[in-house]
Amino acid sequence: TSAHLTIDPRSAIGAVRRRLFGGFVEHLGRHVYDGIYEPGHPEADGEGFRRDVIELVKELGVSTIRYPGGNFVSGFRWEDSVGPREDRPRRLDLAWHSTETNEVGLHEFASWLDKVGSNLMMAVNLGTRGTLEAIDLLEYANVPGGSTLSDRRVANGRTAPFDVRIWCLGNEMDGPWQLGHRSADDYGKLAAQTAKGMRQLDPSIELVVCGSSGAAMPTFGEWERVVLTHTYDDVNYISLHAYYQERNGDLDSFLASSTDMDRFIESVVVTADHVKAVRGSDKTIELSFDEWNVWYMDRWQGVDKIEGIDNWPVAPRLLEDVYSVADAVVFGSLLISLLKHADRVTSASLAQLVNVIAPIMTEPGGPAWRQTTFFPFSITSRLARGEALRIPIESPTHSTAVYGEVPLVDAVATNDPESGRTALFLVNRSVTEPITVIADISALGDVGVLESHTLTDDDVNAKNTLEDRERVAPRAAAVSIADGVLRVELPPVSWTAVSLG
Ligand code: AHR
Repeated sequence: TSAHLTIDPRSAIGAVRRRLFGGFVEHLGRHVYDGIYEPGHPEADGEGFRRDVIELVKELGVSTIRYPGGNFVSGFRWEDSVGPREDRPRRLDLAWHSTETNEVGLHEFASWLDKVGSNLMMAVNLGTRGTLEAIDLLEYANVPGGSTLSDRRVANGRTAPFDVRIWCLGNEMDGPWQLGHRSADDYGKLAAQTAKGMRQLDPSIELVVCGSSGAAMPTFGEWERVVLTHTYDDVNYISLHAYYQERNGDLDSFLASSTDMDRFIESVVVTADHVKAVRGSDKTIELSFDEWNVWYMDRWQGVDKIEGIDNWPVAPRLLEDVYSVADAVVFGSLLISLLKHADRVTSASLAQLVNVIAPIMTEPGGPAWRQTTFFPFSITSRLARGEALRIPIESPTHSTAVYGEVPLVDAVATNDPESGRTALFLVNRSVTEPITVIADISALGDVGVLESHTLTDDDVNAKNTLEDRERVAPRAAAVSIADGVLRVELPPVSWTAVSLG
């Protein structure tokens, strides 16, 4: 079986922004405590941050990191997280039924971001707080000095402003589970008022308004229309969130999950552009896919659920999904979907980073390791440069229960005019069939294969675990070039990247 495609650098979709490779750190489970921060660990640096985790985060190649939540942010008082540590309150986090010690707060997190070389994307609480608290936080973070809150930051040890460039106006406000959940109309008004206020203080910031927390939400589509009608002139981005999991043993449908991501993105684009047309605006709203991943979410409703008025653990094991090869192949295909929409999806955050539905795992006092999903992210983040390219594909198809007829091969390419390098990202969704991809690369001139990686395994359920941390890793792809034609062999259930130059 074979699939045919053409790579032509003239077919640009849009620039690949570094922000597309963002991450997300929420105060949730063992993400911050016992994840990035573990003062007693042999790898801990002077501030208590694990050096081995810092190295893995750098290798992963995450740009902007969204913080501090997630559902957590809707009960968060930012003032708790700054100032002398001994004075910081212990708070009950209602979202995850845990205790937040506030040992790591804004200053500590910003210091960790400097160590990993990433930028902060800050979310404000619009669930249980409002416009004034958001403006206060912005003053604390971005004003150089001379006001009470900016001077408090300086007194707390940070002379230069944090200079946070991008801000989320709350989190998943369409979700009934969200503290302070609102109707689209109510949230739209609050978001517009908050955005205006924040921009009065710092007109240079970029703002993300909450879209739907999933395309399957009953309010999806209408939520975006109403919220953007209120906020169109005041925000830069609307957010999208999506998580995928294999259900009922239907691997074929699971492997086609990016079909849903494609449709989701395209639906939000047309809805945003509808509001643009109605308003006669010449501004275009961009998309921030600020939560995406594979997540076996049903677990949170079951074994992970914490309950009890006297039971508020610190850093419990929550949402610690262990990812398989099949999960990583789907994950790689989600990155392909993001790149295919690089003209409109200009910011994205993998949810999340360490221990909590994460590419990096740690054991208290023990090692840190890469999950299967680590590899598609680190390789795509490193190789996808320049512009994303539209590549017409002729692929065999098959029928799936959830998405109907889908192509077995999906692909995207990037081309960097500066370095002259091209990268091709491919997925084979077939559970049984190897597929040979035959690509016309004559438009690239005389190029060779610089590197190649295939993630696959005879056991699609193979995983990296504490006991067997390197069980799964990518290997070189079977790839050759002759007469302007690239041939790549894609094993069943595989994700592949090829760098040409
Ligand atoms: O990433 C886990 C949770 O998923 C986030 O807290 C929330 O925003 C989403 O529902």
